[in-house]
Amino acid sequence: MLYCGAVQTYHPPPMTAPKEKPWTGRFTEPTDAFVEAFTASVEFDQRLYRHDIAGSIAHARMLAHVGVLTSAERDAIIAGLAEILAEIERGEFPWSIRLEDVHMNIEARLTERIGPAGKKLHTGRSRNDQVATDVRLYLRDEIDTIRAELERLIHALVELAEREAETLMPGFTHLQTAQPITFGHHMLAWAEMLLRDRGRLHDCRCRVNVMPLGAAALAGTSYPIDRAFTARELGFDAVAENSLDAVSDRDFAIEFCAFAALLGTHLSRMSEELVLWSSSQFGFVDIADAFCTGSSIMPQKKNPDVPELVRGKAGRLNGHLIALLTLMKGQPLAYNKDNQEDKEPLFDAIDTVKGCLKVYADMVPRITVQREALRAAALRGFSTATDLADYLVRKGVPFRDAHEIVGKAVRYCIEAGRDLPELTAAELAAFSPVITEEVYAVLSLEGSVAARNHIGGTAPEQVKAAARRVRARLAEL
Ligand code: ARG
Repeated sequence: MLYCGAVQTYHPPPMTAPKEKPWTGRFTEPTDAFVEAFTASVEFDQRLYRHDIAGSIAHARMLAHVGVLTSAERDAIIAGLAEILAEIERGEFPWSIRLEDVHMNIEARLTERIGPAGKKLHTGRSRNDQVATDVRLYLRDEIDTIRAELERLIHALVELAEREAETLMPGFTHLQTAQPITFGHHMLAWAEMLLRDRGRLHDCRCRVNVMPLGAAALAGTSYPIDRAFTARELGFDAVAENSLDAVSDRDFAIEFCAFAALLGTHLSRMSEELVLWSSSQFGFVDIADAFCTGSSIMPQKKNPDVPELVRGKAGRLNGHLIALLTLMKGQPLAYNKDNQEDKEPLFDAIDTVKGCLKVYADMVPRITVQREALRAAALRGFSTATDLADYLVRKGVPFRDAHEIVGKAVRYCIEAGRDLPELTAAELAAFSPVITEEVYAVLSLEGSVAARNHIGGTAPEQVKAAARRVRARLAEL
């Protein structure tokens, strides 16, 4: 199930010979071989190794700080963990499925390397608070990476919006030509969706950055731990207030997946437009060859695979959100093994979001806007009909009457196979005597967009100002 995009850098080495588990004391027979494989998580949770080691180092420092470990024991643990980190990164760590998960693999290796001091590391903690801490630390780092990629994409959209602030195109409702807009305005609509996603990611990070460590198995620990010390070491903003909640809460992972699902929905909508726009029927944009693929049978084809695939990824991101919500819905307090199932959906959501954002941030600057085709499309479909109605209103005609008058003019055009600006002043005046020569100014595309000159409007001047405000908002938070 692990998604291996170009963004995933760590490739786990194969599993090696079995080792002894740390909890066999009360058992009379070894674990069934299939059960061992079925319950193990090391194949996917080993990606937490860096954060597991960081958490252990902070825990060891805290234990020495409160006098539970000697400074010699602490130093031996820290040095041993540093060696293990290097060993993992060299791809030489002997991962063992018998040791179940990343936590027990690293702890067992530590004892193997440094002897009895290694066995003291787990004092005052449990894998239950350890895993919750590791996942939060890992997710916090990934959130920061994702945020940077999201901002790179928003910047690319802002640049495109500024470049195409004056470019005219048809705006659609019901996918029918509605009113002229500027291409830049459309790009900034996409930027707004993504800015909300960025806000959601920021909010999510606040609740991710709370430390469960110290909750131990579920009830806390009898050692004189200093949770604030550990939290400072690890850069957590706060410590979880309730030990039962600390080990069982996965809201933060659900929130991240909700962010991912909504971002995926936005990217999917953007993709749908790019797929339509790059078709020969629309011909609005051209996506660089580097982001398209050909057909093995039809030589003329250039397919928008990147937007199509990103549109498809939305489905899997929605799936991960539903998987986690369903995972949690029936769980009693506190930790249950069910929680091990949080990782694959969360990890895949992270990888998928990173992949989609990277490919989009790289692709957007390589979109060529076909200004002539956009203009020609905006001229079709009576896109300035509303402007004609507004013109009549300015001349004293009530809006509902104006609507009716323009509707009749449009029907006349459809029957004659012509467009509104092609009618003579006399023909137009036949629909309402208030219409005079100056009507052509409002029937032009430029006149139509320039008239929508208020905050949030499509006028080129407004698009340029809005683009500047997006940059400022990106610099702010
Ligand atoms: N691999 C486990 C998980 O991901 C770690 C915690 C196991 N705790 C336990 N009591 N079995 O959730």
